[in-house]
Amino acid sequence: MHILILNGPNLNLLGTRQPEIYGHTTLADIESSCRALAEDLGVELDFLQSNHEGVLIDAIHEARGTCDGIVLNAGAYTHSSIALMDAISSTEMPVVELHLSNIHARESFRHKSWIAPVAIGQICGFGPAGYGLAIRALHGHLSG
Ligand code: DQA
Repeated sequence: MHILILNGPNLNLLGTRQPEIYGHTTLADIESSCRALAEDLGVELDFLQSNHEGVLIDAIHEARGTCDGIVLNAGAYTHSSIALMDAISSTEMPVVELHLSNIHARESFRHKSWIAPVAIGQICGFGPAGYGLAIRALHGHLSG
């Protein structure tokens, strides 16, 4: 099984970005714990971050044929990108939507997700631990 963890804009700044919301864990820390879990589960992992919508769309297209599913933290594109939603429906990739923060408990513009209608499910509010939960959820879905 091969899983892509795809991270959108500003997530490269984790660790220093609004730590009161996102904590002090860096994306590199998150990547190493994802890799440790993937090894335990016998899963192959690709881990990518981009600040550019088109790069994220290309990554979803490329995942078709190379990966079995995607854990997607699309950052603010979650709330704006119909193009990302279309990329998921067009490729029919199984996607677990992920957010560190509880988007439903924040500003109202964060309550809308264009990813949710095309995702298997959504995990939010558990900080960096959410990545592990999302990998386990996707692994369970793909094994089922
Ligand atoms: C986020 C939540 C989004 O609303 C925000 O724009 C982000 C991060 C999260 O992981 O909590 O960039 O996706």
